[in-house]
Amino acid sequence: MIQPRFIEIDSPGTQDPRAELAAGLGERPARVAPKYFYDALGSRLFEAITELPEYYPTRIERAIFDREAPAMAAAAGSVHTLVDLGAGSCRKAARLFPVLQPRRYVAVDISVDYLRDVLADLQREFPAVAMTGVGLDFSRRLVLPDDVAPGPRLLFYPGSSIGNFTPDEALRFLRQCRDAAAGGSLLIGVDLVKPKAVLELAYDDPLQVTAAFNLNVLRRLNVLLGCDARLEDFAHVALFDETASRIEMHLQARRALTLRWPGGERALAAGERIHTENSYKYSVEGFDDLLRRAGFTRTSCWTDAQRWFAVFLAAG
Ligand code: AVJ
Repeated sequence: MIQPRFIEIDSPGTQDPRAELAAGLGERPARVAPKYFYDALGSRLFEAITELPEYYPTRIERAIFDREAPAMAAAAGSVHTLVDLGAGSCRKAARLFPVLQPRRYVAVDISVDYLRDVLADLQREFPAVAMTGVGLDFSRRLVLPDDVAPGPRLLFYPGSSIGNFTPDEALRFLRQCRDAAAGGSLLIGVDLVKPKAVLELAYDDPLQVTAAFNLNVLRRLNVLLGCDARLEDFAHVALFDETASRIEMHLQARRALTLRWPGGERALAAGERIHTENSYKYSVEGFDDLLRRAGFTRTSCWTDAQRWFAVFLAAG
């Protein structure tokens, strides 16, 4: 019985988040990076978000993959190694295995430990695919050893996670993807611009699951920084900024208060906000342009009938 391999390039926990969190709270406006959403509870809250009728991206992206996977496979050519960036449960990639038929699957995530159980199960389901779990913070730098991921590679970055980067950061990341594809291609999910009301409902749902997901960041501040935030003192705010073309999520102080932690504090006026996430929305033309500026010369794009979400394949 063939077994998955595991390697840890970046080990989480070696870097202390306290300095980063304290520095972010000290900025004007105060901010916390979106990676702090995803502890065990936050990841489950995000899973719950993907089941909400108002949160369309996950569902539409899945429909695009289900319908267009054969066309995508034809455009990608033969795939030696499928590299899954931010693999998590690996389910999105696994749905594509029968069509893409990769020889090797490399699942990359911040936490290699989470991948251990997931890949062991997946290996039983697909015994013919060689599987490797890699612990790597690819948002900082995307480098994969050749023996781990022999080329040509198909890089897979679904879910519109690219939206968390500013356009400049996204360009830098896409350039790294082009290099890391080693002559192969990138298959990426991108959320598109649409009416403001639709976007704001997707990020501020009536069941308030997204509010819980956002407020969970305060629990993380309390645990990681030893902060004394009270969740009931904050309101979830999600706004679409049409000029910047991004959803912004904030935690807004319901009254004047001071956050205190060992070695620091931050006073917030009533109504003042902590910025927790940007989620950029692109036009098809705008994202195609970004891919070309990143050095890709051949692109294909598939969307739904409403043009709410796009999947791009970029090569060359
Ligand atoms: C996981 C970054 C793609 O921006 O839509 C969902 C995160 N935040 N609801 C997104 C998120 C609020 C999500 N990404």
